[in-house]
Amino acid sequence: MSLPPPQQSPFRTDILAGQVALITGGGSGIGREITRQLGSLHGAAVAISGRRQQVLNDAVAALQDEGIDAMGLQGDVRKAADCERWVQETTARFGRLDVLINCAAGNFLASAEELTVNGFRTVMEIDAIGTFAVSRAAFPALRARGGSIVNISATLHYGATWWQAHASAAKAAVDSLTRSLAVEWGAFGVRVNGIAPGPTGGTAGVSKLAGVDASEEEVNELVAATIPIGRVGSKWDIAIAAVFLCSSAARHITGDTLVVDGAAWMWRQPA
Ligand code: HXC
Repeated sequence: MSLPPPQQSPFRTDILAGQVALITGGGSGIGREITRQLGSLHGAAVAISGRRQQVLNDAVAALQDEGIDAMGLQGDVRKAADCERWVQETTARFGRLDVLINCAAGNFLASAEELTVNGFRTVMEIDAIGTFAVSRAAFPALRARGGSIVNISATLHYGATWWQAHASAAKAAVDSLTRSLAVEWGAFGVRVNGIAPGPTGGTAGVSKLAGVDASEEEVNELVAATIPIGRVGSKWDIAIAAVFLCSSAARHITGDTLVVDGAAWMWRQPA
């Protein structure tokens, strides 16, 4: 069973009004839906970063069509100078920064014996070091506003996952970083949380990693059978959790990673 997302937000549409959000990897996949929800549907101005200029241009145009103040920032989270420039350009354009969503990620399936050291390093650099680099660059601006960070993680490393040694290690590092930064930056009013999505329909995480040659609908059906709540998550499910964590409703929540997966990771169908 795959339910369509609710058409209406459960939150007031102005709960992030006047705020500014920077979303890495915001031009596609889960990042793009988070950008829509923070922006056009809940009132924030948004800046999105990514490596591909055309993807950014298309996403910014679509957001502007929805009436949201949006800007695109080309670059790579593996370059600290790009991360710093994104923050500078965001604050220069919008005057402040309240929310950082670390959504940029890289992944592929590879057995440990076939995974090269450079393949492992590449995913660590994008997911773990990239999350640190952008957070570090954003901290002075977030501190000025008592802002918050949301790191998009995974559940791969709660147990262990085949052919994901690199991504599992990287997301474990991200979760650790979420806790360390929450402890250090709490005194400055900066909250740091994470979201761990389970299988999420229409994303590279499912199409690339499901490892079967089937349509999106067939893949969703196969995956849904492994999820206690009986359906594959949607990008909306992840994005609305991000809205909650950025809002004042979560003002006492920091250092936590919220699992949004329909209880998928903790359960296996009895044989
Ligand atoms: C084995 C691979 C590989 C593959 C790349 N490599 N793809 N190894 N199988 N399919 C190796 C390369 O051989 C190389 O090592 C090293 O990784 C770097 O590859 P490059 O292509 O040079 O790097 P780059 O162009 O920067 O690409 C980065 C990437 C790429 C991560 C490898 O796949 C990418 O950017 N993808 C787009 C983003 C993405 O994948 N998003 C999905 C996120 S899903 P050598 O030794 O040969 O030099 C996600 C969800 C996780 O994060 C949770 C799932 C449930």
